[in-house]
Amino acid sequence: MAETIANLQIDGKDNPLDIVESSVGNEGLDIRSLRAQHGVVTFDPGFANTAGTTSALTYINGAEGQLMHRGYSIEDLALHCSFLEVSYLLLEGSLPNAAELQSWSDAVRVHTLLNEEMKRFFDAFPRDAHPMAILSSATNAISTFYEEYHNPGDAAAVRESAIRLMAKMPTIAAWAYKKSIGQPYMYPDNSRTYVENFLAMMFGLPVHRAEIDPVIVKALNVLLILHADHGQNCSTATVRFVGSSQANLFASVAAGMNALWGPLHGGANQAVIAMLQSIHDDPEATTESCIARAKDKDDPFRLMGFGHRVYKNYDPRARILKKYADDVLERVAGDDPLLEIAKGLEAAAREDDYFIERNLYPNVDFYSGIIFRALGFPPRMFTVLFALGRLPGWIANWKEMSEDPLTRIARPRQVYTGPAPLDFVPLGDR
Ligand code: SDX
Repeated sequence: MAETIANLQIDGKDNPLDIVESSVGNEGLDIRSLRAQHGVVTFDPGFANTAGTTSALTYINGAEGQLMHRGYSIEDLALHCSFLEVSYLLLEGSLPNAAELQSWSDAVRVHTLLNEEMKRFFDAFPRDAHPMAILSSATNAISTFYEEYHNPGDAAAVRESAIRLMAKMPTIAAWAYKKSIGQPYMYPDNSRTYVENFLAMMFGLPVHRAEIDPVIVKALNVLLILHADHGQNCSTATVRFVGSSQANLFASVAAGMNALWGPLHGGANQAVIAMLQSIHDDPEATTESCIARAKDKDDPFRLMGFGHRVYKNYDPRARILKKYADDVLERVAGDDPLLEIAKGLEAAAREDDYFIERNLYPNVDFYSGIIFRALGFPPRMFTVLFALGRLPGWIANWKEMSEDPLTRIARPRQVYTGPAPLDFVPLGDR
């Protein structure tokens, strides 16, 4: 803790506050003594100005539009790494050397199979079940096979849980997709790399060995890296909240998946494509009408994929994805009218005072769906892909929380605005 440099006066009384030092970015005011000494709590709906933890995983400079994981810029990681390499960085704290990466890849590779009894689990869902419902349910379901690894205080058990989650999530995601299209489940093929294996399980058939385009493998590695971690966003904060009660890693991650599903968070990538498609299909809809609706407070419509709680500049992930969309479409899928509509919306919004005054820029979800679609994924799988990318970030945050000596069970306070004490009125007198 740094020396006290903050003083909060309440009812004329000084309340010196310690500072929680940062290595980069905002420092924290330590308010842990505030309620005991002054009987007041801080009020911050959505925790927009409140840090519930320190963290060494990810730093976001919202004003400058910068993102780094363990000190490495997202641009360098997306350009030079594989997704498993970045997962190792988040989980272990340093970039792996060749031997470490091989050992990590091998550890994950040998656990990609699901217990055969899980097939009945998938069969229990309706065919049109949303894959995010299956993903979070299946994450809890597989935890029943690994109860010996549930103890958060056992580092070896936590590592085994982390490996099972990293290894089996692509299989669960692919099987959820296969179920929705009535095709046979594809077993993992351990001769393939992590992302190649996922693509083969998604788009392969048991009748022949699928040849997976290396361009698509590279593109999906980049997309998963861009989603790997992002500070204390809604789903990651949920993973920490649930884990703070010493719930196991599987249960905590499943809770994070459910938070991610919301259209204001990870569900936005699916909502962006629906928005672009509706503009494309509606002869009356224009870029201008869409922008007008987004600005109209009486219209619930929002420009999905735009705006961010932290970025008040261009989301660096959106910048990478925008450039990447052109490459991938050119190499894989050809022109997509939705990309042109997206670029038109972005250009119009960036010239509109409403968006400029509120620092609303494209976020990671604005262009990601166009690339996911070009790679062959249906929109209902987009948030599942976001979850596959965010999985190492959730696990790394849960580990950091579990190992932090300052961690206590999460239990925020409130400002009560209900009725003062009342005399009870018996039923007959009401
Ligand atoms: C992700 O936190 C993370 O890091 C998340 C994430 C990650 O990697 O984990 O980055 C991933 O979730 C990205 C965000 C995906 N969601 C969307 O694209 C949905 C559309 N965006 C918004 O709903 C909104 O911008 C949020 C939810 C992203 C941020 O909400 P905030 O910080 O609570 O901001 P706000 O709703 O208070 O908006 C501030 C102002 C409001 O107008 P005024 O009240 O000042 O007049 O900006 C307006 C809002 O109405 N506004 C928008 C808008 N986003 C904000 N107006 C139109 N369209 C939008 N998209």
